Amino acid sequence: MTRGAQQFVGAVTFEGVTGRRVHSDLFESGEALAHIRLAREAQVIVVAPATADFLARAAHGRADDLLSAMLLAARCPVLIVPAMNDRMWSHRQTVLNAEHLRELGYDVIEPATGPLAFDEGEGPGRMPEPEAIAAHVERALRGGSALAGKRLVVTAGSTREAIDPVRFISNHSTGRMGIAIARAAWARGADVTLIKGAIEVPIPTGVHVVRVTSTAEMSSSVSVAIKNADALIMAAAPADFRPAEVAAEKIKKAQAPSSIPLTATTDILASIVANRPAKLVTVGFALETQSVVENARAKLAAKQLDMIVANRAGVAGEGFGADTNRVTFLSANGEEVLPLMSKDDVAESLLDRIEVLLNGR
Ligand code: CTP
Repeated sequence: MTRGAQQFVGAVTFEGVTGRRVHSDLFESGEALAHIRLAREAQVIVVAPATADFLARAAHGRADDLLSAMLLAARCPVLIVPAMNDRMWSHRQTVLNAEHLRELGYDVIEPATGPLAFDEGEGPGRMPEPEAIAAHVERALRGGSALAGKRLVVTAGSTREAIDPVRFISNHSTGRMGIAIARAAWARGADVTLIKGAIEVPIPTGVHVVRVTSTAEMSSSVSVAIKNADALIMAAAPADFRPAEVAAEKIKKAQAPSSIPLTATTDILASIVANRPAKLVTVGFALETQSVVENARAKLAAKQLDMIVANRAGVAGEGFGADTNRVTFLSANGEEVLPLMSKDDVAESLLDRIEVLLNGR
């Protein structure tokens, strides 16, 4: 705890709440080299919240308290989580300090936007939620994976095709699998672009988000995003059909049509085969209710994929909406049947295979 921190929370309270010893004094009784020992022991250091004054001091390499001295002695990843009034955050000097800290190799996290103290309205300056900080810690600890710096495009969720201004057709995809992949890929150090339709789970920390509604929008967003990408993972469930005509006005109940003519949407994976970068590792999913492996193998060939993840629809604990999944990976090298596992574990297994595919490019 810095002196500033102790103005807000007493060291004894902090120690009671965390159950950990609190260090605050550069010249702790009996331990002159605490700053060196703490720096050497740490695998990652998180400064949260980091005040404007702390950013200024750290940017200048000051060492006049335990925290700043420890930072100079540290060689592990350091996350700095600024939290301050939005005007202080946008001050040119603070901007320069944050830039300088990034040049020095510190990971300065962007503050969250939201209501600020003292009725200052909304603005960037809030400390991000603990879950977001924990995600950064995970990424820092996992640094050095084969995915670090690779550009991944992940699609997730369902698309919606308008019938009229208030109604649409869609499917039951919740986005859980795609979101688990995007989260895990970012934790491994990848630069992740998430192209999302409708989803029912929160967007993970760190990913660039592209929001789409229809299959046509997802298709054009994918075409743009893959230009500079190393891998595309199509975990989304784009709607395969759309109404042939979209009614300009809401269809009144009294004029209910007895049928809605449908037409096929673009098959995104099939449509990019000719134009995708030669090195792009392309992974699809196949959701089947019957002949799972045979149908998936046919899609692997038809869509010229490096790998396809086959899973079943309509089975409890698998496919849409579940937190778990039972999948089979199919590629030119054969089949790999995985047991029932969490979607987070499926994502990790899939990324292990993608790292191997990327290494071969
Ligand atoms: N997909 C796509 N564009 C679509 C529909 C699906 O790119 N319009 C992708 C999915 O994201 C998935 C893969 O193609 O990665 C297979 O999707 P799936 O719905 O299982 O197969 P379809 O090709 O739509 O074939 P079918 O509906 O006949 O099973």
